Amino acid sequence: MSRARAVTHPNIALSKYWGKRAGEGNMPAVPSLSVALSGMHTETVCEVLPSLAEDELVLDGGPMAANGRERCAALLDRVRARVDSPARARVVSRNDFPTGAGLASSASGFAALALAAVRAYGLDASIAEVSDLARRSSASAARSLFGGFAELAPPPDAGATFLAATPLAGPDAVPLRVLVCVVTESAKDVPSTAGMNRTRDHSPFYAAWLDEAPRVHAALRAALLAGDLPGVGELAERSALAMHASAIAAGVIYFGAPTLAILSAVRGLRARGIGAWATIDAGPHVKVLVDEADRARVASALHGIPGVLRVIEARPAAAPTVEVTP
Ligand code: DP6
Repeated sequence: MSRARAVTHPNIALSKYWGKRAGEGNMPAVPSLSVALSGMHTETVCEVLPSLAEDELVLDGGPMAANGRERCAALLDRVRARVDSPARARVVSRNDFPTGAGLASSASGFAALALAAVRAYGLDASIAEVSDLARRSSASAARSLFGGFAELAPPPDAGATFLAATPLAGPDAVPLRVLVCVVTESAKDVPSTAGMNRTRDHSPFYAAWLDEAPRVHAALRAALLAGDLPGVGELAERSALAMHASAIAAGVIYFGAPTLAILSAVRGLRARGIGAWATIDAGPHVKVLVDEADRARVASALHGIPGVLRVIEARPAAAPTVEVTP
């Protein structure tokens, strides 16, 4: 029993996961493809302490909120069951970017917790098994166990219980830079699990999304493997807009006024021949995909948009790290 420290990166989906398969186990209904982002980190230390009566969970300097606590304790319980240990843990986690605001903090957070907990409890698990463990807590987290570009496809078998993300390409597959336009520091109103379930239950366009998502995913995957950045960018924007169209029809609206202003600026840049494409997750921020050669001029255009608080510049990240300390 020991102490382990994991550092992971958030990932953003270029082709989006939105919707779960019916049944237990948090299985995605559609395939997704993501890129891990450097310049943004979750650092999680997990310390196994048999003297504790219950898990101690600290996030960004304060006790974790109830919903987060339950999901983290459930992940720790799964690890404990595998090594047959009753010992509780102290977990201290910190994000260097806004938490719970649609910047994929749950992806990097559950990936870091899974990695740190597995090592701290001495569970002999492969990276695929750690990815599967993270997926059960938050499906996008399965992809944050890998650097570069990763993929999470629904299992072919309806009864499957194991599902891990797989690495698809290294960080240099395309000369991509991601300009993350932060438009609020506060947490989102509708967490992604609730948003996608509401979309499934109330959107007249959910079936169309389930039909479209695998096609966009396959085309995007091919563009990435061919090194075609404009293809990747166009398809990523298409995936995001289709996902949000289905959500908006169910009243799940993550866009704010700055979101639309940034989208419009990105489309304006494209009309002037500059390669820039937008993607948006379960929050109002916009992540702008650009060729590294256009990074500076696109960033300066984005800085001037009303409502943009700051722009974080990221490139495809390397794999996460974990170290065990006695
Ligand atoms: C819009 O992975 O947060 O970011 O599995 O219910 O925890 P749960 O959902 P989560 O959803 C992420 C949704 C998304 C798209 C994506 O990352 O693929």
